[in-house]
Amino acid sequence: MNTQSAAAIVALADRGISTLPPLGLVLGSGLGGLADEAEDAVVVPYADIPGFPVPSVVGHSGRLVVGKLAGKRVALFQGRGHYYERGDPREMFTAIEAFSRLGGRTLFLTNAAGGLHADWPPPALAAIVDHINFAGANPLIGLATDKRFVPLTEAYDRALLATLKGAARVAEVELREGVYMWFSGPSFETPAEIRAAKILGADLVGMSTVPEVLIARYFGLRVVACSLVTNFAAGLSGGDPSHEETQAVAARGSRQFRALLKAFIALHDQTIG
Ligand code: HPA
Repeated sequence: MNTQSAAAIVALADRGISTLPPLGLVLGSGLGGLADEAEDAVVVPYADIPGFPVPSVVGHSGRLVVGKLAGKRVALFQGRGHYYERGDPREMFTAIEAFSRLGGRTLFLTNAAGGLHADWPPPALAAIVDHINFAGANPLIGLATDKRFVPLTEAYDRALLATLKGAARVAEVELREGVYMWFSGPSFETPAEIRAAKILGADLVGMSTVPEVLIARYFGLRVVACSLVTNFAAGLSGGDPSHEETQAVAARGSRQFRALLKAFIALHDQTIG
């Protein structure tokens, strides 16, 4: 175990958290509000947990909230660290390792993303079925164990994807499916990059999530992920994408996203992790 994770586990124990629930959710841009709905919650600011990221992005509060949603205890990571904040793809390494060591089995990753389809008007929801690591960074570089050779053939768990689709039916929200292409950010993409992304098979573009998928799979966690499409990707509509637009549209889409996540939590079988 890395020393940061050991220290994080001690800090959490000091706050009365000696185990974490099997299901954890990373709440991306505009989605942190879900954590405020958690009942009987224990809240620990990331700043109080060694190795956890201190987010510098508006809309990412940086708190671990352990509480009940849809009748089940879940771990909510309210905000994330991004590669573009400090150039470190391991921003979320300690958080995910601690989650895994304290009982986590399934990690649900959420984000805001740009959409590549004219018929996916924002705010739209799209399950991530696969990804393209276009940023080229990898949080597993430098880990001196053969465990680093993580297979990614089924990085996004099929059974959990089926549960997510079932949750979409229950919550009566439309759920698309797509391939997410990771750009480092923090600049948005050029229209030429978006045309290239389309040719390469992407449906969504964004600046997060992929490093977390790699870390989660390294620790043997099952992964499910979903994007909230907040804008048409660069060049697909008249205007410029912006962080303000991402925030505003994520807020508009968050009611549906929250309904989807709560339906997923209710359906998710905690016994299989
Ligand atoms: N590109 C990258 N990341 C994003 C976008 C986008 O268009 N929208 C929200 N996050």
